Amino acid sequence: MHCAHCHRDNDLQLKKAPPDLHGVFKQATLPSGAPATDEQVERTILSGRNMMPPFAGRFTQPQLDALVAYLHTGLQGE
Ligand code: HEC
Repeated sequence: MHCAHCHRDNDLQLKKAPPDLHGVFKQATLPSGAPATDEQVERTILSGRNMMPPFAGRFTQPQLDALVAYLHTGLQGE
């Protein structure tokens, strides 16, 4: 399962649509109001959040670093 299934396409038709992750690090805070830091985003990915499933054990640390770095690009051209 990839982030974009929920975060871009909302395939699961979640009632509370997952926030758009484009430019998620361009604001000081995440959609929830939590600070937009690498640590906070990693914690969200590993632990999940409400309707978002936890990804603990699904990513290695280098993969997680690459993902956070990718989100820092603002997902240009996606
Ligand atoms: C099953 C659907 C689903 C998948 C897959 C998913 N998310 Fe989410 N995500 C959500 C939902 C729903 C929320 C909103 C949670 C809330 O605040 O209620 C969310 C919130 C977030 C937030 C914002 C957290 C905050 O504090 O506002 C980030 C960042 C995020 N997701 C990143 C990711 C990344 C990166 C991936 C891929 C590894 C991913 N998500 C995969 C559903 C999903």
